[in-house]
Amino acid sequence: KKPKSHILVIFGASGDLTKRKLVPALFDLFRQGLIPENFAVLGASRTRLSDDEFREKAGEFLPADQDAENFKKLLFYESVSPTEQLDYKKLKDRLEDLEKKKNITPNYIFYLSTPPSVYEIIAKNLAEKGLSKSEKYFRRLIVEKPFGTDLKSAQQLNIDLLSFFNENQVYRIDHYLGKESVQNMLVTRFGNGIFEPLWNRNFIERVEVTSAESLGVESRGGYYDHSGALRDMLQNHLLQLVGFVAMEPPVVIEADAIRNEIVKVFQSLRPIKENQVCEFVIRGQYTSSTIKGEKVKGYREEPGVDQNSRTETFVAMKFFIDNWRWGGVPFFIRTGKKLPARVTEVVIHFKQVPHHLFNQVGIPGAENNQLVIRIQPDEGVLLKFRMKTPGAGFQVQTVNMDFHYSDMAEVRLPSAYERLLLDCMQGDATLYSRGDAVEEAWKFVQPILNAWEFNPDIPVFGYPAGTWGPESSDKLINNGQWRYPC
Ligand code: BG6
Repeated sequence: KKPKSHILVIFGASGDLTKRKLVPALFDLFRQGLIPENFAVLGASRTRLSDDEFREKAGEFLPADQDAENFKKLLFYESVSPTEQLDYKKLKDRLEDLEKKKNITPNYIFYLSTPPSVYEIIAKNLAEKGLSKSEKYFRRLIVEKPFGTDLKSAQQLNIDLLSFFNENQVYRIDHYLGKESVQNMLVTRFGNGIFEPLWNRNFIERVEVTSAESLGVESRGGYYDHSGALRDMLQNHLLQLVGFVAMEPPVVIEADAIRNEIVKVFQSLRPIKENQVCEFVIRGQYTSSTIKGEKVKGYREEPGVDQNSRTETFVAMKFFIDNWRWGGVPFFIRTGKKLPARVTEVVIHFKQVPHHLFNQVGIPGAENNQLVIRIQPDEGVLLKFRMKTPGAGFQVQTVNMDFHYSDMAEVRLPSAYERLLLDCMQGDATLYSRGDAVEEAWKFVQPILNAWEFNPDIPVFGYPAGTWGPESSDKLINNGQWRYPC
């Protein structure tokens, strides 16, 4: 159903995210008739732009058709410096003006797509102008990542935002939760009778999560060099995936019911102590190499990156979840840039049969049944199981039962931002991270950050761009191997 009439204010609207993700996502909603009748997007940034200039700039990735022209009429712009208190008066006047002219109800979503350093001041200035709370109308705040750079800063950011907004008004984006195939994990697990009875320590040998990217840091070297793979991908996206894989069935499919279960998973993560980091965590950094005949730069040669940088572009980790369901089952997760492919998948490795009756053929480990949940690309679910090779004797081979979303005719996968924006417009925070979960996730990675920062003896392994990361990451998996998806 259509959300209620409102205005979406985007702070930092002249940045890349607006034109690359937000505006195309809003346009897709518009085309499906999911945008309210009385609605406006108000871009707010420091840059001086007219409404038309903003439409031109923000609409760069829209098609050149009449639909896009109609949609662009919903875009407006006001120059607002986030730190300039006086500008919020202008913002408020402009909101009131739009409400009158377009007959819009004064419900607001404020989207913070600015550097995190100004999140607090924006929240404060909005509150001072009476824009953060209302008895009658909704007021929501969407916060982009990164949500903090360590445990302390995340805790502080929660305190800051929650001084002006209530927790149920704050929507912390983790765009992985907006991916269709991540949500489908809940349906795979809790919408089928066949998987859940096996989804525990009695039947699962290990769980693997890989999120590989073939791109490097591109033009984001300046940001990335202060972040690294642990903060940029693992603390948020990968741990959220783990949350979905490992959680207990929620009582209902509602924001708090689901988010309570995710927090419990994070609270059950067995801490990796600073002196255990070398044993459980491997970091790497890509070095120059030649891929398909083309010379590729190493990370330290990328623009914006310190030439002596020790920032990791790859991280692999082994850990345990100390609860009844997962006691003793190792989880292996890894992510990296400049790997051979762009692929994100969750692999459930089931235990072997208790007694082998048949000849083992094929690669070692292939006798384990595997359920592969492909998050992207080629979203789908793959079950690997054993079949008799036709003919004499009892030779056994592994075969695939393979579902691809692309096989569902007429199905279009919505982008993560499209889904998340629509959910926020409808007041559904299920696919947004809750403050306590974000803090728990930071709590888990903090000792690793500390060890890396204060112990120069912990190596940063080089790996040639275009390979699957440092060889030592293979040693983490002692009873098998990573699944190499291609
Ligand atoms: C972002 C990270 O959050 O996620 C990027 O900052 C990363 O470094 C991106 O490339 C990956 O997202 P996706 O949807 O392409 O897997």
